[in-house]
Amino acid sequence: MRPKVYVSRIIPEAGLNLIREACEAEIWPEVMPPPYEVIAEKVKTVDGLLSTLNDRIDSPLITGAGSQLKVISQMSVGYDNIDVKAAQARGIPIGNTPGVLTDATADLAFALLLAAARQIVEGVEYIRAGKWRTWEPKALLGGDLSGATLGIIGLGRIGEAVARRARGFDMRILAYSPSKNPADVSKLGIELTSLDNLLSQSDYVSLHVPLNAETRGIINAESLRKMKPSAILINTARGAIVDQQALYEAVKNGIIGGAALDVTNPEPMPSDDPLLSLPNVTVVPHIGSASQRTRDKMATMAAENLIAGVNGKPLPNQVKV
Ligand code: NAP
Ligand code: GLV
Repeated sequence: MRPKVYVSRIIPEAGLNLIREACEAEIWPEVMPPPYEVIAEKVKTVDGLLSTLNDRIDSPLITGAGSQLKVISQMSVGYDNIDVKAAQARGIPIGNTPGVLTDATADLAFALLLAAARQIVEGVEYIRAGKWRTWEPKALLGGDLSGATLGIIGLGRIGEAVARRARGFDMRILAYSPSKNPADVSKLGIELTSLDNLLSQSDYVSLHVPLNAETRGIINAESLRKMKPSAILINTARGAIVDQQALYEAVKNGIIGGAALDVTNPEPMPSDDPLLSLPNVTVVPHIGSASQRTRDKMATMAAENLIAGVNGKPLPNQVKV
């Protein structure tokens, strides 16, 4: 009999076809993710679950799963929605999709950096509002990238890929990433420094840490006050790394120059969120990995983890804690 799996969203065919060939698959058909209770019920009977970052896979859900559940395969690199310790306690491996989305996410971080620096969104809105009457010597003046300092918080796969892009724009690059070795990263043209020093020296601060107990709210009123009044914050990591109320106050009161966010807390961001009323804040709807090729690779990787897990084999990409 083929293993039974539950797939919590309609993922790209590249992955779905592999799953359908190897397993008896049930797929949640809606655009909106399944309610918590649906997944909690499914894991009582299936051998494998393919989840996305929308699904809350907490300790009660894992504890309540049937003894047949052999794997949880998440279609993203971040797995902060999953209680990994609870899964470990039950001997259930967690799969994720590192690496294949690094370039796409770094591209988006850099797109946000450029858009915020050069007021691209304001420029588009300026034209739509009928304000473009002539070439203006002093309108829509933004910041330069060359010679400016970029501070990267979390120098992992995506942080390093952002640094590579910044080198091409002749930026000075600082990073805060405690486990990294200064000699290794200086070869990449990156200077390791303390968090405080990075915040006070950077013109652009880009977040690339995973969300965990240590990083939750790492950007708060106090850290924002340490930044330059012209600095721009870019977040493509996770919304809860930033205290959003503090960010609103900081941008509104000129403590920092602006922000560009791919991730928010909560998601989706309500359309009446005060941050959206600020002209120097740009928000896009969690599209860091949203290129066709990248999503195909993520779906394939998540399918391969799922299929390996339900067959009792080591996952090609297993989360290690
Ligand atoms: P990664 O390779 O694991 O990089 C994370 C880096 O952060 C690691 O170097 C890690 O150091 C460092 N770090 C951990 N805790 C830290 C702390 N408290 N202070 C400073 N640095 C710390 O992960 P990745 O593949 O680059 O992905 C990073 C995150 O981006 C994911 O977890 C996910 O939340 C987010 N993401 C978002 C999108 C999107 O669509 N917007 C797409 C992909 C990923 P160690 O080496 O010591 O662990
Ligand atoms: C997306 O946010 C991911 O973690 O892959």
